[in-house]
Amino acid sequence: MHLKDKVALVTGAAQGIGKALAQSLLEKGCKVALVDQNAEVGKSCKDAFDRQFDAQMTIFLPCDVTNENNLKDTFKKTVSHFGHLDILVNNAGINNESDWERTIQTNLIALIRGTYIGLEYMKPENGGNGGAIVNIASLAGLLPAPQQPVYSASKHGVVGFTRSLAMASTIGNYGVRINAICPGFVNTPILQSIDKEENLGQFSAYKENIKDMMKFYGILDPNVIAEGLIKILEDDKLNGEIMKISTKQGIHFQEYTLPSGHHTKKLESVL
Ligand SMILES: NC(=O)c1ccc[n+]([C@@H]2O[C@H](COP(=O)([O-])OP(=O)(O)OC[C@H]3O[C@@H](n4cnc5c(N)ncnc54)[C@H](O)[C@@H]3O)[C@@H](O)[C@H]2O)c1
Repeated sequence: MHLKDKVALVTGAAQGIGKALAQSLLEKGCKVALVDQNAEVGKSCKDAFDRQFDAQMTIFLPCDVTNENNLKDTFKKTVSHFGHLDILVNNAGINNESDWERTIQTNLIALIRGTYIGLEYMKPENGGNGGAIVNIASLAGLLPAPQQPVYSASKHGVVGFTRSLAMASTIGNYGVRINAICPGFVNTPILQSIDKEENLGQFSAYKENIKDMMKFYGILDPNVIAEGLIKILEDDKLNGEIMKISTKQGIHFQEYTLPSGHHTKKLESVL
């Protein structure tokens, strides 16, 4: 996909990884709807972008992605403001083992809902131009995370949903590529949640284990995740791929025994 003049919606765009993703899209000439529940940080993010890019390139839309009406309204506003939608980045996420239902609501249910709403706007059969959806999962979506079992479950869900829906998109000719990114630890405010008992709940006793893991695996800069996003968007061959990003191996892809993008008949022959 050639990114200049494309319209992107990024959730959780006010800070951290989402802000870095929005920055990289703006640098490529995309218009970006910055979507976040934190209106204060969201507005200062928009102000910071306005000092670097034309103010017309971004719009800040306050939205709690777990609120269905709020989310639908946000997509509607994005399309009525910019005219259409080409790219959706489902990035908003939390790390909360205490309020674990909210973790599933935010990281998985809202991501699924956002994807379905996005597809409605992007599918050529509905008058859209096709496009690309990128879901931000985590290496905890591929590996067990003993101190964050529900976070890990939510991200495993994102990986399974992404791979499955990407196949559905191929079979059903949605005209939309769907991929996911699984980063290791990234230097953003979410890492502070590890020190908070209200976030880790019964697992806060093991917070030192997470800190040891951070020391062992290292911490990525958010710009590396942005680099991964641009790679996925610019390569039209990628669909159903799970990109992994770690300090040791950089940007690479998860290899599966069943190559993604295959049809049911081929799957049957392997199962
Ligand atoms: N930082 C890491 O180590 C790391 C590693 C792997 C994956 N991730 C994933 O990357 C994504 C971004 O995380 P981050 O590290 O930038 O975290 P962050 O806490 O810095 O930023 C998350 C943003 O999402 C917003 N958000 C949270 N819940 C929301 C909701 N219900 N509606 C709208 N906005 C909401 C927050 O206000 C915040 O601006 C998350 O999905 C996270 O799980 C992060």
